[in-house]
Amino acid sequence: MGGQEDLIKRMKEIDWFHSIPLKGGIVTPGRDDSMSKLKQVCLPEDLSGKSVLDIGAWDGFFSFQAERNGAERILATDHYCWSGPGWGTNEGFKFAHEVLDSKVEDLEIDAMDISPETVGEFDVVMFLGVLYHLQDPMAGLRVAASVCKELLIIETLMDDLHRWKPSMVYFPSDSYNKDSTNYWAPNVAAMKGMLHDLGFSRVEVVFPKNRFIRYSLPVRILSSIKGLFEGRGSFRQTVHQGRMSFHAYR
Ligand SMILES: C[S@@+](CC[C@H](N)C(=O)[O-])C[C@H]1O[C@@H](n2cnc3c(N)ncnc32)[C@H](O)[C@@H]1O
Repeated sequence: MGGQEDLIKRMKEIDWFHSIPLKGGIVTPGRDDSMSKLKQVCLPEDLSGKSVLDIGAWDGFFSFQAERNGAERILATDHYCWSGPGWGTNEGFKFAHEVLDSKVEDLEIDAMDISPETVGEFDVVMFLGVLYHLQDPMAGLRVAASVCKELLIIETLMDDLHRWKPSMVYFPSDSYNKDSTNYWAPNVAAMKGMLHDLGFSRVEVVFPKNRFIRYSLPVRILSSIKGLFEGRGSFRQTVHQGRMSFHAYR
């Protein structure tokens, strides 16, 4: 069997979350539209000389992308999906690492156990799609902040997007997306407030570029109706929700 055919066969045996470009136009068959998410998180295109920590890396799309963008050192961490009770394994990460001949380091560690003592400090910390999975989101942000020297990149589910005052919505049991690991979603004022309180001097919303249009009431209503068919939750529950990305600078 040829090299490429063998590669595709091995790749297809893995249950992928991320869609990772490998070589020769091959992309891992993940259920996540990772390239679109990359645009949304606005990962700096030039990471030369930077150290990068990926908290909740899963198959490692963003770690491998940081390597492509020239980062000097990258540490991919996860627990829930690598060997915990989560939705996957580390098979995808290991496979992509081998095929990409990657130098990305990896460490099996729960997000809440991350600290300067356990992992060191990094110029850039990626905290993507993790915040709403934590029972204590402020503690989770504190953990990420404690190991971040320059830039913290956060991508998360948001709620209460119609409120100006800081607020955070709790999802009891599996009431959001039928997933009991979804706990909390802040609004923009709460997110900015928490990050300022954790010592970040500047906090920018990098996605959506114009949130007042993207998350205007008519758009949220349409998205919420779509969510009814996707089983995301009731109209009342999802109508003020959306995904957003933030860059917080020291
Ligand atoms: C929605 S996925 C996001 C994956 C990737 N960061 C991305 O944005 O595409 C959530 C990730 O957070 C990880 N995760 C959830 N809870 C965690 C915890 N307590 N400690 C470490 N990782 C956790 C999961 O294993 C999974 O990799």
